[in-house]
Amino acid sequence: MDFAIKSGSPDKYRGDCIVVGVFESGKLSEAAKLLDDACKGYLGKVIGQGDMDGKANSTLLLHGVPNIASKRVLLVGLGKEKTFGEKAFLGAVRAGFKALHQTGAKDAAITLLDVPVKQRDLAWGVFQTVVLAEESVYRFDRLKSIPEKHLPSLAKVVIVVNDKSSLTAAEAALRQGMATAQGMKVTKDLGNLAPNICTPAYLAEQAKDLAKAFKLKLSVLEEKDMEKLGMGALLAVARGSRQPAKLIVLEYRGQQKMEKPVVLVGKGVTFDTGGISLKPAAEMDEMKYDMSGAASVLGTLTAVAEMQLPINIVGIIPATENMPGGNATKPGDVVTSLSGQTIEILNTDAEGRLILCDALTYAERYKPEAVIDIATLTGACVVALGHVVTGLMGNDEPLAQDLLQAGEQTSDRAWQLPLWEEYQDLLKSNFADMANIGGRWGGAITAACFLSRFTEKFRWVHLDIAGTAWKSGQDKGATGRPVPLLTQFLVTRAQQQ
Ligand code: BES
Ligand code: MN
Ligand code: ZN
Repeated sequence: MDFAIKSGSPDKYRGDCIVVGVFESGKLSEAAKLLDDACKGYLGKVIGQGDMDGKANSTLLLHGVPNIASKRVLLVGLGKEKTFGEKAFLGAVRAGFKALHQTGAKDAAITLLDVPVKQRDLAWGVFQTVVLAEESVYRFDRLKSIPEKHLPSLAKVVIVVNDKSSLTAAEAALRQGMATAQGMKVTKDLGNLAPNICTPAYLAEQAKDLAKAFKLKLSVLEEKDMEKLGMGALLAVARGSRQPAKLIVLEYRGQQKMEKPVVLVGKGVTFDTGGISLKPAAEMDEMKYDMSGAASVLGTLTAVAEMQLPINIVGIIPATENMPGGNATKPGDVVTSLSGQTIEILNTDAEGRLILCDALTYAERYKPEAVIDIATLTGACVVALGHVVTGLMGNDEPLAQDLLQAGEQTSDRAWQLPLWEEYQDLLKSNFADMANIGGRWGGAITAACFLSRFTEKFRWVHLDIAGTAWKSGQDKGATGRPVPLLTQFLVTRAQQQ
C-alpha cells in the first residue's frame, strides 16, 4: 500500500473517500466541520436525523455529498470526547478501514489525526494508522487453492496532517510505520505457514533470501557443526526429529565494524509436540507458532534494513522441531550445554530454554552491547499476563526500561516480572548442575532463571511472547508482535549512538 502525508482542506480532496470523525455528543472533528461548512450543513443534518450516533467504532458511508470533491465521505464514530484515548483512537481507525474495504475505494484520505489523543502525539497516530492500514489488508491465503474473492481494493492512503510544526516528525513516523509493517508481515507469514512447510531448513532459506535482499552476512551451522562446538542442549531437542536442526546467524552492519552489536536471539521451534513429555492433542496445531521468536528476529531485521538504521545487529536463530521418537531425549537424560554446564532434562516439553541457552552462549562471541531473546517460552506467562502484554525479565535494569518504553511508545507493550535470587533454587537437580524445569509455580520466571545462567557475560533481556505472538480461535493468526517494540528500541538506540 502507498502512503502519503498531506495537509490541506478536506473538501478539496479529489479521491474515492474521505474519512472524518464524529463524537457521540454530535460534535464534529475539525475536518468534519470543514466538510460540513462546504456542504452547507449536510453532515450535521444527517447526524441530527439520528443516522449516525457517533458511538465508538460506528461508521456511516455517505455518497454524493454536495460541494465535496471526494466521491464518498465516511463518518467514523469516536465515542465520548472525554475518554478519547489510545484505545478509542485505534478502534476508530480499525473501524474506518473495515468500512472502507466494504466500498470499492482505491484511495482514501484519513483525517482522524485532527482529534488529539490523550497522552499521545501526532507521530504516534501516524505510525499506528500505517500499521493498522497494513493489518487491515493482511491475508494469508497462499495455501488455499482458490484465492479469496472480495479483497480490499484500497491501494493508497493519504494521512491528513494540518499541524505544520509536526510535519517532520510525522514523515519519520510514516517511514518507521511502513518499515515496521513490512517487518510484521514477514513475521506473520512465517508464523502462519504450515509446520510441514516452515521447517528449520525453510527458516534458513528465508534467512538466505533476506541476506540477499539487504546484503546481510549469513551463516548457517549444521548439526555436525553444533556437535563440534558442543551444543549438547540444542542437539538434545533436535534428536527426535527427522528434520535437521539449524543455527542461523544473520549480521546487519549499519555502523563501523568496531561498534558492538545488539544481538537478537529468537526461539525457532518450528513445531513443539512436547517430545516424549507429549502435549495433549487439543490446539496442538498452534505449536506451529513456536518459532514466532525466530520470525520476529527476521521481521525486525527486515524493518531495520529497510530503514538503513545506523546500528550493528546480529540475529541468532536456533531452529529445530521438538518431536517424540525412538532416538528422542528422555526425561532424566543429562546433557552438557555449550557453556559447559550440565542439565538434567526432567521435561522434554521445556525445550525452548534448551535451544536458547546454547544460542545465548554462542552470542558471547559477538561481544554484544546487549542481548535480547524473544521466545514463546511458557504457558505460565499466558496465565500470568494473558494475551495483552509480553513478559519481560532481565539482568540489566536500564536495558529493561528501554525495552519497556519502546513497547509503550508503539503500543506493543511488555510488563516486567521479577527475576530474584529466591527463584533460582527451584532449578536444583540432584544429578546435574541444574534441572530444565522449576516445578508448578512461577513458570515464566523459573524459565527466565534458567536462561539467566547463560547470560552472565552481557546485558540481557528476555521477552516471553507466548501470549502475544498469535491469536487463537476464529481469528487464529500471527500478530507480528513484538516487531514494533523491537524496531522502536533499535531506532532509539541508533539515535543515541
Ligand atoms: N512452546 C511452549 C510454551 C507455550 C505453551 C507457548 C502454550 C504458548 C502456549 C513451551 O515449549 C512449553 O511447552 N513450555 C512448557 C514448560 C513446562 C514443561 C515447564 C509449558 O509452558 O507448559
Ligand atoms: Mn514445549
Ligand atoms: Zn516450545
